[in-house]
Amino acid sequence: MKTVIIGTGSFAPPRVVTNDDLAEVMDTSDEWIRTRTGIEQRHISDGPGTTWMAAEAAKLALKDAGVEPEDIDIIIAATTTADNCFPSAACEVQGILGAGNAVGYDVSAACSGFIFALHTMDGLMRTGAYETGLVIGVDNLSKVVDWSDRSTCVLFGDGAGAAVVRACEDGDRGLLCGRIGSDGRKASVLTCQARTMGNLLTGTKPEPGYIAMEGQEVFKFAVKKVPECVESLLKSADTDMGEVKYLILHQANYRICESIAKRLKISMDKIPMNIDRYGNTSGATIPILLDELNRQGKLHRGDRVVLAGFGAGLTWGALLVEW
Ligand code: ACO
Repeated sequence: MKTVIIGTGSFAPPRVVTNDDLAEVMDTSDEWIRTRTGIEQRHISDGPGTTWMAAEAAKLALKDAGVEPEDIDIIIAATTTADNCFPSAACEVQGILGAGNAVGYDVSAACSGFIFALHTMDGLMRTGAYETGLVIGVDNLSKVVDWSDRSTCVLFGDGAGAAVVRACEDGDRGLLCGRIGSDGRKASVLTCQARTMGNLLTGTKPEPGYIAMEGQEVFKFAVKKVPECVESLLKSADTDMGEVKYLILHQANYRICESIAKRLKISMDKIPMNIDRYGNTSGATIPILLDELNRQGKLHRGDRVVLAGFGAGLTWGALLVEW
């Protein structure tokens, strides 16, 4: 039994905010942001958030797959910015789609979320319990960045990506293997504290929680952990990097991707990028990029691709997929 991706979709809010737009409202510049990160613009939601983006991406993925909402057995949404504490983003999307035969829930692994969700889906599919699934990576980080902290707010954007998967009995294609990991000892490197609502007994006042990051620590972690994870994944699948068409990496920072390419001794031609247009959309970067490649006709039957992510937790993971 293999889990095969049969359709993809992605969506970002229409409003685009360029680096120059940001430079008008804070002390930054296009030159600073572009040279350090590769970001030129990002999409920012000016109202509706996570559920809206996730549902739009999901509709496109279902259309691409030729699957009706009532045929979905399970929805897993990877997000750390669900619109509500509950219900989950997955349940909300289920409601919008009218996917009455599905079960839905969220997983939380920040920027590694889509990898964790797809890996989890694969495990469930292999049990034979489900036949058709929807995996979503979505984040609305613009609502949890501190817009007065120029060192973090310029990095992020909003968006969603989705993949429809199906359990297939025969054939070579599908998810071949996966690796996920976490190290909670390094949790403080990248955080977004829960928003406190105030407490009657202690007199605690309501306080917003924002993203806080030790940027250079994240950089060091990513450029060490991701190549290790990818190498171990490929070794277990007896696959050489030369057989991999694309390494579809979490879009956090162009320089991180360049360093990973260098460590894996591969050219940047193998690492598709779209951070220039979206910024870092956290759990959405990998499925948005996957959808772009799919729609551009760059993925052909038999192509092997590796999806790899890293993020808060700290978490990381990689999946080997035969298209
Ligand atoms: N515009 C202009 N100047 C800025 C900005 C900005 N937006 N942000 C910070 N600066 C200034 C700082 O104030 C500082 O000035 P000073 O030297 O006068 O004090 C100077 O630039 C350097 O600041 P640092 O924070 O040390 O910047 P650094 O060189 O580390 O670059 C960056 C920051 C790009 C985030 C870098 O640490 C990095 O690439 N980190 C990788 C992590 C990452 O990209 N995370 C993304 C999200 S996490 C994830 O997805 C898993």
